[in-house]
Amino acid sequence: MIDLTLNNGVTLPAVGLGVFQSSPEDTAAAVETALRLGYRHIDTAAAYGNERQVGEGLRASGVDRDDVFLETKVWPSDYGYEKTLHAFEKATGKLGVDTLDLLILHQPVPDRFELVVDAYRALEKLYADGRVRAIGVSNFMPHHLEKLLASASVVPAVNQVELHPYFTQPAVQAANAQHGILTQAWSPIGGITFYPGWGDKRVSVMQDPTIVEIAGQHGRSPAQVMLRWGIQQGRSVIPKSTNPERIAQNFDVFDFSLSAEELARIDALDTGVRGGPDPDVPRDAFFDRVIDEA
Ligand code: A2P
Repeated sequence: MIDLTLNNGVTLPAVGLGVFQSSPEDTAAAVETALRLGYRHIDTAAAYGNERQVGEGLRASGVDRDDVFLETKVWPSDYGYEKTLHAFEKATGKLGVDTLDLLILHQPVPDRFELVVDAYRALEKLYADGRVRAIGVSNFMPHHLEKLLASASVVPAVNQVELHPYFTQPAVQAANAQHGILTQAWSPIGGITFYPGWGDKRVSVMQDPTIVEIAGQHGRSPAQVMLRWGIQQGRSVIPKSTNPERIAQNFDVFDFSLSAEELARIDALDTGVRGGPDPDVPRDAFFDRVIDEA
């Protein structure tokens, strides 16, 4: 296992389990399996609708809560100072915990940035009160970060963004690094490039010839190569799986390494085209999505 250190000294395991698109029915089992296999970092979000099941899986695993890095996200409909403080209560209530290891704002909502600023102030308050060990953001582009930093008193510890070999976001990674913000990759094995229902012209990075070739040379899977590429470059990665074998495989990435040349070949696969939504496009629908009470 490899740990990463955040800009406030808090550490987190570089490989965590993601549960985006894990159905509530599958989530508890996936979390329990992951924790039994040695994972100690789980990433969820209010908007995934499975925080309750993450808590169930955590308790079923028998692993001490304090040994697990628990991360969740506030959805835009809960942005605002009081609303975001309450969003923390909703999240911890569902997860069945008193504190969070990392709480991040899920989207930048650039057309209503004043709400982002108020929500972030609430995160700062939760951080000052010791309710969360670190705070951060997600899907922020460099100009969103600059805008937030202009009013923030705590530099975000993490910026979680879409990041896989077909979309490596060099400008975001550079801006994060410049501010001491850890880049955390969502869809680190490129799930967004092959999820059904997201457009039929997609090319799965899992089948990319370069990735497949490097994987073959190491006797590893494409997913393992992509995860290794991420952690060797200092990123936090949170691959999603509900399949026990793939959950195990995604954690088995600590006993091989890629050469500088292999890392560069993977970097060169960047298409500059994102698979997920553009964070700069305002989406009123975000605000229609109501997050349940605990
Ligand atoms: P499943 O849950 O059935 O394993 P990402 O985290 O990059 O978005 O990718 C998640 C997608 O990749 C899911 O569809 C997941 O399906 C699949 N997946 C997870 N781990 C692996 C793996 N080791 N090999 C192939 N597919 C995987």
